[in-house]
Amino acid sequence: MALKAFLSSLLLAAPLALAHPGHKEEVYAHAALPLERKSLAHCEAEFNHPEFIKKTVEIHARELQRLRRQLGIEVPEKRDISPRDYISVSRIDHKSNKTVSKNMDLSTLFSDAGACMLMPAVDQGPLYVQGEEIRKDITGGEKGIKLTLVIQVVDYRTCQTVPNAYVDIWSSNATGIYVGVQGYPGMGDPNDSSILKGTTLRGVQPTDSHGIASFDSLFPGHYQGRATHIHAIVYLGATKQANNTITGGRAAHIGQLYFDQGLITAADKIAPYSSNRMPITQNTADFLFMQGANGDDPIVRYALVGKTLDEGLFAWIRFGINQQANKPVSPAAYWTANGGVMNPNGPVAKMNGGGGFPGGGWGGFPGWGGGRKRRAAAAAEREEEVRGEEEAE
Ligand SMILES: *[C@@H]1O[C@H](CO)[C@@H](O)[C@H](O)[C@H]1NC(C)=O
Ligand SMILES: *[C@@H]1O[C@H](CO)[C@@H](O)[C@H](O)[C@H]1NC(C)=O
Ligand SMILES: *[C@@H]1O[C@H](CO)[C@@H](O)[C@H](O)[C@H]1NC(C)=O
Ligand SMILES: *[C@@H]1O[C@H](CO)[C@@H](O)[C@H](O)[C@H]1NC(C)=O
Repeated sequence: MALKAFLSSLLLAAPLALAHPGHKEEVYAHAALPLERKSLAHCEAEFNHPEFIKKTVEIHARELQRLRRQLGIEVPEKRDISPRDYISVSRIDHKSNKTVSKNMDLSTLFSDAGACMLMPAVDQGPLYVQGEEIRKDITGGEKGIKLTLVIQVVDYRTCQTVPNAYVDIWSSNATGIYVGVQGYPGMGDPNDSSILKGTTLRGVQPTDSHGIASFDSLFPGHYQGRATHIHAIVYLGATKQANNTITGGRAAHIGQLYFDQGLITAADKIAPYSSNRMPITQNTADFLFMQGANGDDPIVRYALVGKTLDEGLFAWIRFGINQQANKPVSPAAYWTANGGVMNPNGPVAKMNGGGGFPGGGWGGFPGWGGGRKRRAAAAAEREEEVRGEEEAE
């Protein structure tokens, strides 16, 4: 069936879903509630938003499949819907014409951020360091495009904001390197433990009364095998310690944020991004992006601070989270009073031969250009994350 005809058949099928008791309420609640219940006019803008329409199609598609399954009618191939969907997400232009500045009311960024939906969850990947400090500026003085990252946490069922959560983020630096973990291929000399002293582009921020956490960070650089992204964990019920770290609580959400491909391409023309020779993986070629973007839109909206990208940017995204969720976290390393310490049971130590670390595990590592081990590591990362997704909830 042609795409257009297929989609309109789904839309026409919507009243069926409406007439059906049971799952109906929950299904519609997720999509239809705006963040703050204001006037109906506010909802109207929301509901006419292309993204909302996309989601509505998606939700109806799911409900239609459920009904068809119940009636014993053949279910359309999942393949029919999914690839089309991440492609359509990748084609949305997330650039906003909002005027942004350091002193602005950050909650105004979210006035048109779309309906609240459960963000796609994936495993945290192999390069998470647990125990990083609560700090807003995580740039560590490094060069790169200044990125103010604003994340609003809301409950995906009630659409209410979630204050007092802690958002923990980490990413690669402008030249595509993650610091803080030793022995991951391509991320520095595997025999050099000084990388464990690094905390750049890692940090934690609490959410305020609007559910907002914001960071002064840098636009991440690309590295082999993955689309440009930032990782995030949302902790609930964590305790702030005297040394400005958090302990306890649970990871209610683990996810990854992405950027418009056009923005990445523009950033890659600016130094020091332009010196990064690692191959670029496009969003639409990244399996984890596909996974995330099939259920929702994990690409940040953004606006330039000045006239040109090198003057910096604001990026923002709303996380709809399931407050009951408790995701498994498996850090590669811990940040402690003595600096970074590898987790012998973490994903990188395991990758290097079950804690036999550091040393020869990656001896003869082929370097920046890539190679078999690097590809194996990228594949391991993908597998790890997919496994995490399957285990979740
Ligand atoms: C931003 O774009 C919207 C829709 O195109 C338009 O209505 C609005 O006036 C623009 N705002 C600014 C500040 O340019
Ligand atoms: C990224 O981190 C690596 C490892 O610490 C460092 O060598 C490199 O200079 C950093 N890139 C930038 C742009 O600072
Ligand atoms: C901070 O305090 C906690 C709790 O005592 C401890 O586990 C952690 O290692 C400390 N972290 C740092 C960086 O001092
Ligand atoms: C790391 O050290 C081991 C053991 O000394 C050596 O065999 C290996 O070649 C070194 N790796 C690199 C990348 O220098």
